[in-house]
Amino acid sequence: MAGFFISFEGIEGSGKSTQVALLAQALRSQGYDVVVTREPGGTAVGQVLRRLLLESTSAPLAPGAELYLMLADRAQHIQEIIAPALRANKIVLSDRFVDSTTAYQGYGRGVELGLLAQLNAFACSECMPALTLVLDLPVSEGLKRVRQRQSGTEGTDRFEAESVAFHERVQAGYLAVARSDSQRVRLLDAMRSVEVIHQEILAVVQGRLLVLHKT
Ligand code: TMP
Repeated sequence: MAGFFISFEGIEGSGKSTQVALLAQALRSQGYDVVVTREPGGTAVGQVLRRLLLESTSAPLAPGAELYLMLADRAQHIQEIIAPALRANKIVLSDRFVDSTTAYQGYGRGVELGLLAQLNAFACSECMPALTLVLDLPVSEGLKRVRQRQSGTEGTDRFEAESVAFHERVQAGYLAVARSDSQRVRLLDAMRSVEVIHQEILAVVQGRLLVLHKT
């Protein structure tokens, strides 16, 4: 498939959404056609699923139900947003994608990793990101940032309310994914300033786009 697909990953409070917005702005100013999207909730169906999955007032979900709702969100997202944008040769930036399922449902909830790998391959064979940027920071710092954000208007969602041990497992999951697929996945130190991280991301992405244009 044509186009260029980049996913952003990381634990709660890692600053993904800020970096997605900055990268989109920078690429658009260079004339690229950029689609910004996210999981869960990148489509109308996905927004309904996102509420079920995240709102702390929704009914409790069994781990299997949570997994299938994440996958349903992804199936819709790929068909409605990601695949058409890539076919139209656009750059797609997704705030979370398959590695969130590995990290949260696999490492966090304990769903068998082999099964997740099969499900991910089935759902995304045509649409794996060419590049995945994992924003890496200590769990204590991520959760501190989430609490600061919540002192504004946002409440705690179901994942944010999970234990520190859960978030540590998710973090370990991301590190394992980065080790096992170092061609696609790049770890970035998210303890640095927003601008420094943005400049590194921009340099990495521009390097990849250059290679793409030459081939
Ligand atoms: P966020 O959009 O604020 O990052 O919140 C999305 C939450 O959903 C986050 O806590 C991670 C979780 N999630 C999963 O558990 N599995 C998944 O496959 C995806 C895409 C997200």
